[in-house]
Order: sequence, then C-alpha cells, then structure tokens
Amino acid sequence: MLLFRYCRCLTQFGPVLPRRPQAFTAAAWCAIRLVGGSSSSNNKDQRWEHPRHSPSWRQALAGLLAGTGAVLAYGLHHHKAQQTDAVNVLVKAKPAQLPIFSQEEVTKHRSLQDGVWVTYKGAVYDITAFVTMHPGGDKILLAAGGALEPFWALYAVHNQEHVLDILSEYKVGELRAEDQKKQQSVASSDPYSSDPERHPVLQVNSLKPFNAEPPPEILSDSYVTPAAIFFKRNHLPVPWVDPSSYELQVDGLPGGGLKLSLDDLKSHFPKHTVTATLQCAGNRRSEMNAIKQVKGLNWGIAAISNANWAGARLRDVLLEAGYSPDVARWARHVQFEGLDKDVTGTTYGASIPLNKAMSEEGDVLLAYEMNGEPLPADHGFPLRVVVPGTVGARNVKWLSKITVSAEESSSHWQQNDYKGFSPATDWDTVNFKSAPAIQELPVQSAITAPANGAVVSRGDEEVTVKGYAWSGGGREVVRVDVSLDGGKTWQVAQLRNSDRGQPPEPSPPPGRAWAWKLWELTAPLPPEAQQLEIVCKAVDNSYNMQPDTVAPIWNLRGVLSNAWHRVKVTISDDKE
Ligand code: MTE
Repeated sequence: MLLFRYCRCLTQFGPVLPRRPQAFTAAAWCAIRLVGGSSSSNNKDQRWEHPRHSPSWRQALAGLLAGTGAVLAYGLHHHKAQQTDAVNVLVKAKPAQLPIFSQEEVTKHRSLQDGVWVTYKGAVYDITAFVTMHPGGDKILLAAGGALEPFWALYAVHNQEHVLDILSEYKVGELRAEDQKKQQSVASSDPYSSDPERHPVLQVNSLKPFNAEPPPEILSDSYVTPAAIFFKRNHLPVPWVDPSSYELQVDGLPGGGLKLSLDDLKSHFPKHTVTATLQCAGNRRSEMNAIKQVKGLNWGIAAISNANWAGARLRDVLLEAGYSPDVARWARHVQFEGLDKDVTGTTYGASIPLNKAMSEEGDVLLAYEMNGEPLPADHGFPLRVVVPGTVGARNVKWLSKITVSAEESSSHWQQNDYKGFSPATDWDTVNFKSAPAIQELPVQSAITAPANGAVVSRGDEEVTVKGYAWSGGGREVVRVDVSLDGGKTWQVAQLRNSDRGQPPEPSPPPGRAWAWKLWELTAPLPPEAQQLEIVCKAVDNSYNMQPDTVAPIWNLRGVLSNAWHRVKVTISDDKE
C-alpha cells in the first residue's frame, strides 16, 4: 500500500476530491505511470539493445504493485467507462476527412473557453472534454496549445496502450507537415532528449540534468536498492554508448597504454562482486539550506543507495596495463574520464589516490553490472568505476579513460567542487585550492520512517523508527542510538546487513565494510508526550560519531551534511 499512497499523492495534482470515483481515477493514472513505456522523445532507431529497455524496474516493483492491482484495474475500467460516454458524442461529430491545422491554430486553444488542443506525433487532439473529467486536468492544461511529448516525458504517462487508446478518440486533425518538422528539430536540439526513462516514484531535484532520490521509506524497505529507485546524480546529459564499439583507454603507465573492449573486460579479468553504498557529497544538503542558503541541489536524506556491483578489479586492469611498484615512486593518482560532455565538449572527470586503486583491500571495480543486470543508462552503462567507501563523485560513470598520474584530475569537479570549508568561508573568500578533494565520507545516519510531521496514534502504544547508517573508508557502523526526546535519553537500535527475514551476511573484513546497515527500533510511546523529537546518530568502528547540530558544519556548498538527523512527530489522541 505504500506505493499506492505515493501514487495517490503523485497523481492528485488538483484539489483532492473525497468522492470515490475520482480517487480511483487518480489510481488509474498511477497504474499508467507505473507501467508506462519509453519516452516518445526517445524514439531513436536503436541497433543494439540498451538496458533501459529491460523491464527490471517493473519486476522490482511488481511485488509492491500486486496488492493494489485490483484497485488499479477498477480505476482504469471506471475511467474508461466515463470516458466512452463523453467521447461517443465527440466521435459522432467528427468529419470523415480530418482537417490539417497549423501550429498557430493549435496554439489558440489553450483554455476551457477556447477549447484545449494538444498535438502528439503529428496529430491534433481536442481534449477539452477529457480535461473537465480528469482530476489532474489543471496540470494537463500546461500542455494546452502545444506538444504532449515533453509533458508526457515529465509525468511519464506516455506510450501506454490505454492512454493512447483514450487519446485517439479525441483526434480532430493532423498538424501541418512543416510544423511537425519544427517540433522534431526542437526535440532533437535538446541535449537531454535521449535521456532514459525514469521511474515516476523518484523525487526529482532537477530534470535536466536528471537528479532524483527515492522516497525515504521506500529506500529503507530493501537492503539492496533496486536500480530503478537508486538515487541518480547526473551533471550532464546521459550519453548513449554502443557496447559493441565501446573502448576503455588506459594511459600513463610504461608500455604505451592499453585499449580494452567491453568483451575484453568481461573475459580477460576475473569478475568480482562488491556490495557497496554510494552517497552523494550533497546528501542532506536541505538541512544546511535550512540554516543558511548554500549552492547546490536541495537533496533530502535519500541521495544514498546500496547495490551489488560486479566487474573487473581496477587493480587487475592497471597491472595488465603495465603497473609495477616503480610507478608508485612518481604516480599518486588515478584519473577517470566519462563520456558525458557539456556543450564545449568538456567531459565529467575525477580521480582517486593511487594506493586506493591498487590496494587488494580497496575493492575498486570497473563495474559492468548492477544488481546482477547490465548497468542501467543512468548509472553508467556500459562501464563505471565503483570506489567503495568513497564519495559518489569519484565513482565516474560512462567511463572512457583511465590515466595514472602524478596529478589529481584537472576536472572542475575534482578541483573546484566537492570540497569542504569552514562555516566562516563565503563565496568572496573561498579558495578551492586550499582544501583537499573529498574522498572518504564521514559517518552518516538518517531516519527514513516516520517522516517529519507524521502523526502517530496514541492507541498504537509504540512507535517504530527506521533508517540507514553508513561510514566512508570501509569503517563499519557498529551502533545507532535513537532518542525520542530530542537527545535527552537514548536507546540502541537493531542493525541488519541483509533484507528483513534473510540471514545476516557474514561480517566484512576490518576496513572493508562498504555497505550500509539498515536499522530499526520499536519503543513504547512516552505516556505524557504530545510530540516526539526523534533523533538518530551512528557510531563507526573508529568511534567516529556524527556532530549533534548542523550549524558548526555548515559550508557554502552544503556538502558533508551528517549532523544527528531529527524528525518531529505528533501523537494524536484519536481513537481511530
Ligand atoms: N560520472 C559521470 N560521468 N558524470 C556524472 O555526472 N556524477 C557523480 C558520479 N559519477 C557523475 C559521475 C556523482 S556527483 C555521483 S553522487 C554519482 O556518480 C552518482 O551515481 P548514481 O547516479 O549512479 O547514483
């Protein structure tokens, strides 16, 4: 039911109407989104099968959907029945030969008074009757007078049989050929037009480039995060890579460099699997923003996720490329370059220390699989670096080049971003050269449920608090303390390193705890309390602890936000 609740709120664009039919109609649209196909703007002629066509996210969520299937089916049926009555009237009125309209003519129909017209794939539709019936009608009005494609890309309802069926009944004409061409050239000039499809349950922080995080309570429902809901952090458009012609270049070592195809990487090097948590340096930035404005995406607590990664070890590839202990005399860093480019052709890049790359215990992977499937486009298909214990920014996706060097990467993201500063440093005084690039992250934990502002019934007598905890550099989280009274008294939460009901995974060797722990505490509600301030803090095996407040760690980029996490919950005396 959790997902259903999300869908309900995602679909209730307009005022929430208490009447049953509308609620079901919203649910039907939710179903449409959850099973929706690929973006119409992505109708590229593809010669190879890309992982975005894989139904893995659907499979991942199938279990969650199963319980709501009957309700959703009813919603679709009900929606269709309402639809047919209204449409019959329109269909009868349609002329046999449909007229051709110019874009100018279509653009005149942008309101209920003038009629609501849209175009889709070269056809013109008068959806006025549909808009008046649909609870999200006010949002559909945003597309009025223009193309549906970008609108459907935004709300991910596109290309689904029921929707296209419904739409076809509203067709009133064709769009003039020259206007169709103009629409296509606008779409193809958008560098993000071939970005992959994303799951609509994600909370989007920016669409172009795409940056999104899962709803927190879904995040902590699975120990290994399904790829579809794994947080996504892109600085640039997602590049499309043909795996059959893909080549990884390895430079900077004696021997003149090495070029490896994807097949070489898969067949010439042993395959290693690592479960590792990735966390963006900006995770929980919104809490810093609440103190004083910082620059950056306003991430909540879910710019962190955990996956099983598989691929060749970077160490093995560097040895093959000619690495010997002599190299360590002059080289200090391993630089990575991605295939994603900005308009000037500059690619994303980052570097890590050479000793992390070469260490047998460092577990750095050139990963071609995530959760047992080829990497999805958003997560670096066909190859990315996974640097366990290290900030997300160094886990370069769509990897094209590796260079062993005396220098760090010269990329903007290594030199002038992803660095920490004093709260006293502002944009007038900051000197990015003065601070080291973030590599290992500090200890972190957050509460995924209940949500801030939730209401707990006193009748329940107890409250269950859930969350995640993780520390960088392979340091294992050994304890999570939870307080219900703002930090005056504490209780110790139960930690787990596998899915609920599954046997625990064996403890990782010291210094190689790359994956998070999920935690849970069920505690009696304090009898007199009207409100709870729930707080969590984690401790790692170096006895590092989180700072208690945000202000002393505030910094102008809003990175490394790891203060005690706090949520306020009201206790209601309702007998419900
Ligand atoms: N690699 C490339 N090529 N381009 C990027 O924009 N973003 C980085 C890193 N690797 C990025 C990249 C950042 S800041 C983070 S936090 C992680 O990828 C996010 O990985 P994810 O999208 O797989 O969660």
